[in-house]
Amino acid sequence: MKIVTTVCEARKYRAEVPSTCTVGLVPTMGYLHQGHLSLIQRAREECDFVVLSIFVNPTQFGENEDFERYPRDFERDAQLAEDAEGDLIFHPSVEEMYPRPLLTTVQINKITERLCGASRPGHFTGVATVVSKLFHIVTPDRAYFGLKDAQQVAVIEQMVQDLHFPVTIVPCEIVREEDGLAMSSRNVYLNAEERQQATILYQALQAVTRKGFRSADEINRFVREKINTQPLARIDYVETLAYPSLEPIEQISGERVIVAVAVRFGNTRLIDNIILQDRRIS
Ligand code: PAJ
Repeated sequence: MKIVTTVCEARKYRAEVPSTCTVGLVPTMGYLHQGHLSLIQRAREECDFVVLSIFVNPTQFGENEDFERYPRDFERDAQLAEDAEGDLIFHPSVEEMYPRPLLTTVQINKITERLCGASRPGHFTGVATVVSKLFHIVTPDRAYFGLKDAQQVAVIEQMVQDLHFPVTIVPCEIVREEDGLAMSSRNVYLNAEERQQATILYQALQAVTRKGFRSADEINRFVREKINTQPLARIDYVETLAYPSLEPIEQISGERVIVAVAVRFGNTRLIDNIILQDRRIS
């Protein structure tokens, strides 16, 4: 496995891959866990050459967010990537990715107006801009994204279609801890009590599938009540929307629906979701 830190070197190794081979890209911010590794494994199964990018992207963090304290451990990540049989790690510095003030950004409208787009203004412009840079640097045939960030998947798919990126986006299932908590690099911020109460997110979402809810309002009310049983939980949002358009819906009727939550425990903001087909709700 090669490790490179410059755009030039990344392009050089990419160019050496024969044109008959498929290249898979797994973009990450590092501090790898089983969720990230599942994307690498999927890429390994489907592609001849697997690139992992590790870059904590400052432009997708708000002013009061956790860019500075975001967990980083490159040595450990490199070992995990090697064990998962990645071929190339692209690990640029902030200066390498943003050598001069950025005057060009990629903004996706409408589907960024809700959920995390509403709570974190500018976040998805930062994500779309850095992902489009990575796509231009690595020119992957396939790129792997987790449904843990289902809005991010919808945004990237929209961008790829709108801007004709020659890449297939592969959405991958959410990987969870044994007690159901979605794996996240941010879970390390939780203290023991918060960690224990955080299991309510998945419990609440799972419970939705066992009820015969017919309306978005009913689902939202039910999930809120469940989450509010935990004294340390402070809800940012609970929304039930059409997926991937993220348009509001009233009745549940046949199409794909996402129930998405963002909840704070202390200073830590956690997100989770389930995507339902009609038959799974009733
Ligand atoms: P990061 O949070 O490091 O996540 C990298 C990828 O791993 C994303 O596609 C995310 O959805 C996926 N992932 C995280 N936790 C997961 C889990 N429990 N199960 C399955 N997949 C999971 O998302 C980002 O980084 C950044 O926004 C990035 C796309 C790299 C752009 O900077």
